[in-house]
Amino acid sequence: MTETTGPGVIRPAAGTGPPALAVRGATKRFGAVLALDAVDLEIWRGQILALLGDNGAGKSTLIKCISGVHRLDEGVIEMDGEPRAIHSPAQARALGIETVYQDLALFDNLAPAENFYAGRELAGPSWLPAGLRFLDRKAMTAETGKLLDRLEVGLPNLSNQVGLLSGGQRQAVAVARAAAFASNVVILDEPTAALGVRESRRVLDLIARLREANYAVIVISHALDHVIDIADRAVVLRRGRKVGEEIPTRENQQRIVSLIVGGEG
Ligand SMILES: Nc1ncnc2c1ncn2[C@@H]1O[C@H](COP(=O)(O)OP(=O)(O)O)[C@@H](O)[C@H]1O
Ligand SMILES: [Mg+2]
Repeated sequence: MTETTGPGVIRPAAGTGPPALAVRGATKRFGAVLALDAVDLEIWRGQILALLGDNGAGKSTLIKCISGVHRLDEGVIEMDGEPRAIHSPAQARALGIETVYQDLALFDNLAPAENFYAGRELAGPSWLPAGLRFLDRKAMTAETGKLLDRLEVGLPNLSNQVGLLSGGQRQAVAVARAAAFASNVVILDEPTAALGVRESRRVLDLIARLREANYAVIVISHALDHVIDIADRAVVLRRGRKVGEEIPTRENQQRIVSLIVGGEG
């Protein structure tokens, strides 16, 4: 969905309009720490943007500002060209932004379906007093099964507790959950950090399918080689600043790595 007009000049294909999500001049301080310093970011639907940077670069802070966990000190967030106030996770979700945080936040003691709907359960008949409503477990499980199928996530047993799944399967459940509720943007913070090579590959394949489903996807990683094969664009942060934007290819891999680690090499 992108065309290149020269090194570092990256545009969306003609006619795609304003970016699904844009962040302009994002600045965030934690006390004396300047975690984000006037960062700009744009992402279009049907694109995977890799947000790269070493530990402490500001990646998680940036996406937490987009997903309403933190509030920007300065800067604006736009969706489809319109400025939007995102001051809580609920506001972000209402705008169609779903985030899988670095620490996953799945309930180990619940099955995938219960995790999918945690906090947004399909309630039983609304004429019952709230305390007497029941969860329609069958409907939740059926719906969850459909969503996982759609993303080609194969789980041996949908009623197993999430705590019994492998790291890759857990990550797949979290990604599928985000995709199920997102209408615009899916954000994934270090989705492959805890996974082995094969499991990482499966999760990356799943993320690539989100692009096909026309989401705007932001994938955070501290390691370029985890995302180079799936990302359409890469934005590099270092110490809170955006230090580069590239189309990640095997050819410019070394250059992007030097942007990530800083210095001359
Ligand atoms: N809640 C917080 N309170 C204070 N400092 C924070 C907080 N979150 C992040 N930071 C600091 O902001 C900087 C960026 O952190 P972070 O966004 O987590 O980086 P990354 O995700 O790229 O590893 C770091 O210096 C970190 O210590
Ligand atoms: Mg982080």
